[in-house]
Amino acid sequence: MTRLLQIEGGHLLEGEVRTAGSKNAALPIMVASVLTRDACHLSNVPLLADVDNTLAILAEIGVQVERQEGDVVLQATGEPTSEIPQDRARKMRASLLFMGPLLARTGRAVVPKPGGDDIGMRRVDQHVYGLLQLGARVEEDHNSFVCTVEHLRGADINLDMPTVTGTENIMMAACLADGRTTIINAAREPHVADLARALKSMGAQIIGAGTDRVEIEGVAALSGSEHRVTPDYLEAGTYAIAAAAAGGDVYITDAPVADLRALILKLRHAGIEVEVGETWMRVRRQGDIQPVDLITWTHPGFATDLQPQFTALMTQASGVAVIQEFLFENRFSYVPELVRMGAQIDLASHGRSIHVTGPSTLHAADVAIPDIRSGAALLIAALCARGRSRLSGIEHLERGYEDMTGKLSRLGCIVKEVRETPGLEGANTLATE
Ligand code: EPU
Repeated sequence: MTRLLQIEGGHLLEGEVRTAGSKNAALPIMVASVLTRDACHLSNVPLLADVDNTLAILAEIGVQVERQEGDVVLQATGEPTSEIPQDRARKMRASLLFMGPLLARTGRAVVPKPGGDDIGMRRVDQHVYGLLQLGARVEEDHNSFVCTVEHLRGADINLDMPTVTGTENIMMAACLADGRTTIINAAREPHVADLARALKSMGAQIIGAGTDRVEIEGVAALSGSEHRVTPDYLEAGTYAIAAAAAGGDVYITDAPVADLRALILKLRHAGIEVEVGETWMRVRRQGDIQPVDLITWTHPGFATDLQPQFTALMTQASGVAVIQEFLFENRFSYVPELVRMGAQIDLASHGRSIHVTGPSTLHAADVAIPDIRSGAALLIAALCARGRSRLSGIEHLERGYEDMTGKLSRLGCIVKEVRETPGLEGANTLATE
């Protein structure tokens, strides 16, 4: 049976939606629990497939895992096994995050070459470079990275580019290194800053996280902690764009407004009304949408993880918008599917920018989701389209969006999961209860 998400387009989004905890913060923060023997108490952990997968890896390497909804307690009392299981690691690139902490705790980390979204080359050289600078040896075979070390020692690490998980890996390893580590050209994403807050609550000494220069003074041991995972600016941003594209009036609570400045600016330029408070935002579409150009950048620039969703919005704008992708080589894989729904999009020959001409009357279609954020873009297009669309590959959405069907339904969307027997496409579609 194939699982599909069925959406009846053409309905306004109205009501309130609460932002879940951030996936990209929760993953490294959970992994950081291997740095101490004590219990780490986390709250606001989102209910996502990538979280399930990370907790399963932690349990397999010997960490005690207790979970009740968004509350998670992790305790690595004994030394964890240093080998990460292949099958689970291949499901997500975030499994790379085990390298630094396992190395720091056990002196050895064997981490399979990761899977995850196919959005570009997604190299690992800067993770490896950082760990080498800290005194580790890193060997690579077809399947895995094998990292070993006697003693990690602090170092100055100048990154080629501000890699997010690379910065996080180095930061976690450096917490237990001898002496001071300085990461220059560090990633400034909100989840990097949240990981640093979690590590500090465990006793780490870190200054500058959230800027491009992070200093970590190594300590002999870390202790247990309590930490609430920061709300997900990418989820809040996705609902804001959905409301702008499909129309309506949506109030987003627990919204990390300060992390969403770049998006809010672009939405306002597009003529969308965006009101903000300290922890909420209200998004209303009144009238026509104006075309707005954008280029993705590292934080605080416009997030690459919101680019596909913004493109879906631009299909509804009156005129031409130029969207440029700076970070990843393959982040327009959703474009052919949008075009099948009636969007008018031209891909430039160098593959890094597109021209979106609107407004297009989108029509419903059966489309395949290639990765998490593309899935959100196709969903937004389906909300705008006339008729019933069906999205396959919904496991991608479940990696990054908590209870998306429930949240959209409460906003008045007609959306439900259905199952289809292969070979009987369209003939035997059952709604799941
Ligand atoms: N890069 C290198 N060498 C490296 C590391 C990165 O050349 O050693 C390049 C990449 O090829 C890419 C750029 O640097 O062109 C940025 O990659 P980065 O390492 O920052 O990405 P990441 O850490 O693998 C995280 C998020 C992604 C998000 C990117 C960019 C997590 C778990 N993942 O990935 O999130 O797109 O940062 O902000 O934090 C998603 O949530 O849907 C998602 C894909």
